[in-house]
Amino acid sequence: MINANPEVEFCHGDIGSERKPLMPCTIVIFGASGDLTARKLIPAFYHLFKDKQMPPSFRVIGFARREKTDASWRAELRAALDQFSRTKPVDDKVWHAFAENLSYCQGDLTDEAAYQKLEAQLTSFGSGPLRENILFYLAVSPSQFGDVVEQIHHTGLLNKESTGWQRIVVEKPFGHDLASAHALNRELTRYAHEQQVFRIDHYLGKETVQNILMFRFSNSIFEKLWNRNSVDHVQITVSEKLGVGERGGYYEEAGALRDMVQNHMLQVLSLIAMEPPVSLEAEAVRDEKVKLLKSIRALSAADVAKQIVRGQYFAGNVGGDPRPGYRQETKVKPDSNVETYVAMKLLIDNWRWSGVPFYLRTGKNLPLSASEVRIQFRPTPNVLFAAQCGNNLDANALTLRLQPDEGISLRFNGKIPGTTLGARPVRMNFSYNTEFGAYTPEAYERLLLEAIAGDATLFIRRDEVETAWQIVDSIRAGWEGKALTNREFYAAGTWGPIAADDLLSQLGHTWHEPQAIK
Ligand code: BG6
Repeated sequence: MINANPEVEFCHGDIGSERKPLMPCTIVIFGASGDLTARKLIPAFYHLFKDKQMPPSFRVIGFARREKTDASWRAELRAALDQFSRTKPVDDKVWHAFAENLSYCQGDLTDEAAYQKLEAQLTSFGSGPLRENILFYLAVSPSQFGDVVEQIHHTGLLNKESTGWQRIVVEKPFGHDLASAHALNRELTRYAHEQQVFRIDHYLGKETVQNILMFRFSNSIFEKLWNRNSVDHVQITVSEKLGVGERGGYYEEAGALRDMVQNHMLQVLSLIAMEPPVSLEAEAVRDEKVKLLKSIRALSAADVAKQIVRGQYFAGNVGGDPRPGYRQETKVKPDSNVETYVAMKLLIDNWRWSGVPFYLRTGKNLPLSASEVRIQFRPTPNVLFAAQCGNNLDANALTLRLQPDEGISLRFNGKIPGTTLGARPVRMNFSYNTEFGAYTPEAYERLLLEAIAGDATLFIRRDEVETAWQIVDSIRAGWEGKALTNREFYAAGTWGPIAADDLLSQLGHTWHEPQAIK
């Protein structure tokens, strides 16, 4: 990289450290016929391979029930890559070299013989690291986690104390409440150590989410302001332009709270609000995240009624595109009370954040797709400019734009040029695209690489997932048996229900809407 500004020294590599060379390994994908493999996993491995980031030698085995040969699986993946690759066209030469490492193992997840076949395939790679170092990716339903782990253990593929390493990667939904998450954790750790379990939250793979810690703890100007003395409140918005679409069946079980808040939004919140970790070691970072989640004030049913808002979209249009109401979506009950939107005020009972409201909201069929965190600073005492500006002097705000217009902006007041004393908010803007070019690796690339490297920092620890469920369970308990009220419905294409505005107006706040990319 050319350093355009010689006064600026670059710090290369990962935060503070270079990655250790990766050991050769085999990746076994259970559920290899599914969407996730074709859309995310194989494109991610392909790009890592293309960028020369995979281990010097590796294999990928797809394990699934359907009859396929190595050749037909590869052909299928190639067609999917043409569609889902983030760089197009797919490089034929690179693909062929990559595809040589892919093989298929047909079998049922509960069939012992299938795992013996898998074991034989692994053994055919020799007795070295390709047989010993294995990443098991469970792209299957959580109800099958237990079976898979038991079978790989019985086949001798999962050693708690072996010479190589074996890791298990799992996806959300990680349970549907605390009890089920607890049961899943028990099943996973029956034959594996917690340190072998890597729970994915794809938000942690996003460059902008990883930048939160870098931004907070490497910049003294902001770190000093990051507390109750300077911050008035915080807004975390994850808005989505898409409706529920084909996922009605899943959504009826999940709802926005389980689908988005339990995982992605609480993760972002914990990174924004946690204390500095003692180091960047996985356990140090995760300890602080758990501590933060534990300091969120518990919610009684009465608090839920005051602080948490549900919403559900009815028919409308998003950017001119007509959308059906949620209750008219496929596989949705016509009288469903499932939330497609949720907004909340959370309070963090610790020294740093006491009294500062954290507002979180997420929803489907909103006017645009954008995720951002807005730190709203306290206003100045308005004694000097009241005559000119009334009470409208803007308070400063810092916005971390997580996606899609990745960047950070700082909003402050400036004098409008001219002979009178008028003020208006102006913005300083950092944009990833302008600064670093359009290098946007997919979240899965980073996460898969970290799992192969054995660094668990970007994965969710057992106590983290369970603490998050505790918060979500208390909210669900508050909603139990209550139907949605009129103030909780919103038209598709609007910014959510009126009740969400009421929530902020209790303290004289208003939502800040993300801006569309110009
Ligand atoms: C998934 C949810 O975990 O995250 C989806 O199940 C949601 O409902 C998606 O659309 C959002 O992810 P992203 O990366 O598009 O913000």
